[in-house]
Amino acid sequence: MASLHVKINNIWQDLHSSEGMPALDVVRGELGLTSTKEGCREGDCGACAVLVGEQVGDMVRYRAVPSCLLALGELRGKHLVTLEGLVEGAKDGLTPVMRAFLDENASQCGFCTPGFIIALTSWLAEPQVPDLAGALRAIDGNLCRCTGYGAIRRAAALLVERFKDLPLESGARLKTLVEAQVLPPSVLEFMAESAGKPEADSVSRKISGNAPARGGNADNAVPVAVVGGGTDYYVRNPDPEEGFSPFLTRMLPEFGQIRYVSDREDRWLEVGAAVTVRDFFSSHVVRHEVPGIERFETMFASTLIRNLATVGGNIVNASPVADITSMLLALGARLVIVPEADAGNKNTPLRLCPLERFFLGYKKLNLGPGEVLKAVWIPVLADPSSRKFSFEKASKRRNLDIAAVNTAISFRIDKGRFRDVRISLGGVAPVPLLGIGAQEVLEGAPCDVSDKKSLAGLAKNAARRAESAISPISDVRGSSDYRRRMVHQLMLAHFIRLFETSGVAEELFP
Ligand SMILES: Cc1cc2nc3c(=O)[nH]c(=O)nc-3n(C[C@H](O)[C@H](O)[C@H](O)COP(=O)(O)OP(=O)(O)OC[C@H]3O[C@@H](n4cnc5c(N)ncnc54)[C@H](O)[C@@H]3O)c2cc1C
Ligand code: FES
Ligand code: FES
Repeated sequence: MASLHVKINNIWQDLHSSEGMPALDVVRGELGLTSTKEGCREGDCGACAVLVGEQVGDMVRYRAVPSCLLALGELRGKHLVTLEGLVEGAKDGLTPVMRAFLDENASQCGFCTPGFIIALTSWLAEPQVPDLAGALRAIDGNLCRCTGYGAIRRAAALLVERFKDLPLESGARLKTLVEAQVLPPSVLEFMAESAGKPEADSVSRKISGNAPARGGNADNAVPVAVVGGGTDYYVRNPDPEEGFSPFLTRMLPEFGQIRYVSDREDRWLEVGAAVTVRDFFSSHVVRHEVPGIERFETMFASTLIRNLATVGGNIVNASPVADITSMLLALGARLVIVPEADAGNKNTPLRLCPLERFFLGYKKLNLGPGEVLKAVWIPVLADPSSRKFSFEKASKRRNLDIAAVNTAISFRIDKGRFRDVRISLGGVAPVPLLGIGAQEVLEGAPCDVSDKKSLAGLAKNAARRAESAISPISDVRGSSDYRRRMVHQLMLAHFIRLFETSGVAEELFP
């Protein structure tokens, strides 16, 4: 078995475990780095968070991810930092992030603390102006069962105050953080070692010849051999067999791009299947083509999960309530499918499939054996600012929860009328649906933002049509009646969000 060359804290090591092992097991077992804790093993608690440094374009970037859901093979050529590595540069054995926790008594039993320290260190390393909202967002995937969040919040506030003037250029920022002993000197070494190297190690473009046939069934009992971020895969398969060596989509540069493409007639924004949910929402081009989409980022899981989960994994996992799928359905996306055995070849023939035709039944996909999803194409509008887009989700918790029901809407206003209306409905059938009846209500209807009565009337009609067209099942996330009612209410919520200043909210809920 080929070894994996990984920089672990301050030393390059060759790992011999298989590429499909969850990194957590190797970090704690083989490497003995036991500051990394195993809590839930399902991405819910953040106790297993590690920092992963990698070259992205011409810069080095560090992000916190849950190691229980991270395939070991993802680390090839990268820098893994655990708490043992973070303290290497700290003179008194504590980094400023740890010191803030100590000063505010933000740790009791300490089990969750390494995960919080890693997540907050990752937040400081990101080129943004530190504020408390950002710090709290960075730890929205970390749970503490004994200290209470007040003290942790105060520790985060201390860090905001202390580090409010960090440079925004990423290289200068990492250097400043090393000088401040937030990050260890091995970060600077890794930056020097990465300079001029190609992004991902091409040895990892593994095509698994022994991949079991998937037969179009994503929920097959036989383990599938494709892994994106692993945030669904490893929850279902927490202990893969020794030797498991999946096709890791994130190791193929062609699967990780966001760029414009055109076919004979149209222009599209291509989002690679291996683009992470975090990078999807952060992308300037995605934000340009879908104005306002960034408002919905924090409705998806947690920062730790978004740093790892991919757009392609969200689609192929085929959950009827997948959030990115719901957004892409409303945006009229098409899927680009390629043969797995030839996936890295730029000239491989593509199969295009409208997203709504990809789902054939519960977890049954229009994806043949040996095929993988390479990218998603989002239609580009002549005037992207004319696109109106909204997403709504009903879940038991505001953060870190899968939806009971979700819905997205996209349309243009052209000469005072609704045009190209698309509405998705998730969690109301075995597959994500288009709300055809509700679309019909709106398509071509007058859209006068000064006429709140007419907007409210349209919203109510569309909501009634959406609700009457579905027969959801009852399950742990909600009864059939609850889901129908939520679809109705979320349709109204789209109107309130999109026509905020029109007074439609008061008209709908006097
Ligand atoms: C704590 C937690 C919270 C979550 N919250 C949300 C949430 O709020 N909203 C939401 O929608 N989801 C949520 N999820 C689910 C999950 O994070 C998403 O579905 C995510 O987008 C899956 O992407 P992935 O890359 O991790 O998929 P993976 O786990 O890598 O793959 C999922 C499936 O797709 C297949 N696959 C992946 N990529 C490809 C490809 N390119 N071609 C062919 N097959 C492929 C895999 O074989 C696997 O069957 C959550 C998960 C966790 C653990
Ligand atoms: S052990 Fe809980 S997120 Fe990994
Ligand atoms: S300090 Fe005990 S779980 Fe957080």
